[in-house]
Amino acid sequence: MTVVGWWRQAVTTRRMVLWLWAAVALAQSPAGQQGRQFYLGHCAHCHGPDGEGGRGINLTTGQYRLSRTDDDLLRVIQTGVPGTEMPPSRLPVADIRLLVTWVRSLGAAGALEKATGDAAAGALVYRNTGCARCHSIQVNGGQAKGGSLGPPLDSIGLRRSLKFLRDALVTPDAYIAREYVGTTAQTKAGQLFRGLRLNEDDYSLQLRDADERLHSFRKSSLAEYQRLDSSLMPSYGKLSPTDLNNLIAYLSSLRAANK
Ligand code: HEC
Ligand code: HEC
Repeated sequence: MTVVGWWRQAVTTRRMVLWLWAAVALAQSPAGQQGRQFYLGHCAHCHGPDGEGGRGINLTTGQYRLSRTDDDLLRVIQTGVPGTEMPPSRLPVADIRLLVTWVRSLGAAGALEKATGDAAAGALVYRNTGCARCHSIQVNGGQAKGGSLGPPLDSIGLRRSLKFLRDALVTPDAYIAREYVGTTAQTKAGQLFRGLRLNEDDYSLQLRDADERLHSFRKSSLAEYQRLDSSLMPSYGKLSPTDLNNLIAYLSSLRAANK
């Protein structure tokens, strides 16, 4: 490394440490503790008591898809994220500011979390294992490539912790987002269908299968239909530990923001 390169790195590291220190100090102040109480009351059931994620995203990366500044965070918490499970909050602005402080401190806690695997090798595992059959990834504003049975993975590294990613690969049944619940349908003629449940009312059921085909049924024509408790995604627990680590490093590197 050149002297200039070394110096830059040293300055960046120092800034990071100072920032972490400031965030931790804030979190320990009375205002920080109050923010924590609000967080535990209003947010933890989705984002986890330590911000590790669940129904809500991981808040410990310190980076957010839609927010950069504290004002952005304030706005997102006030309005929620339309079309997702993130709800608007009716708390007074002053309380939301305390929440922002607490969210920042959660971010500081995990900002240095780093995958041990090799992301480039993981990209190959991703390709060779057929993940793109069900997931799309959009690179550098280009065309998103891949299927849509599972969620797009462009910003998965921002949304999910390393532990969550591992769990998602090894035990996909453990957590299934509401939009990705599967369903099976068997017609009276004996044909069996399996896919994402798109719509259901008293009379009809629509699903999309792994080949992206839409199927619409009148319930009266079905012998049986059932919402699945298990994920449409198979478990990848049988990958070698190296492949699994590399794959997790690759997923963690996917951090597209603002989309
Ligand atoms: C019902 C579950 C749920 C609750 C309750 C919830 N969230 Fe979320 N939150 C989510 C989901 C899901 C997302 C991801 C939305 C998306 O796809 O961008 C999210 C996203 C976020 C983000 C990232 C925003 C960005 O800029 O990308 C922040 C910060 C956040 N939530 C904070 C909070 C706080 C603070 C609370 C409590 C007031 C809260 N959330 C309550 C589910 C929830
Ligand atoms: C047959 C379709 C299918 C295949 C193949 C598949 N997935 Fe999935 N994946 C899904 C579905 C559906 C979900 C949503 C339900 C769930 O969380 O289990 C999902 C969820 C995920 C999640 C969690 C996303 C989140 O935010 O909660 C990750 C990460 C993931 N898949 C990665 C992969 C990787 C990496 C591969 C290849 C090794 C892969 N998937 C192969 C269908 C698939």
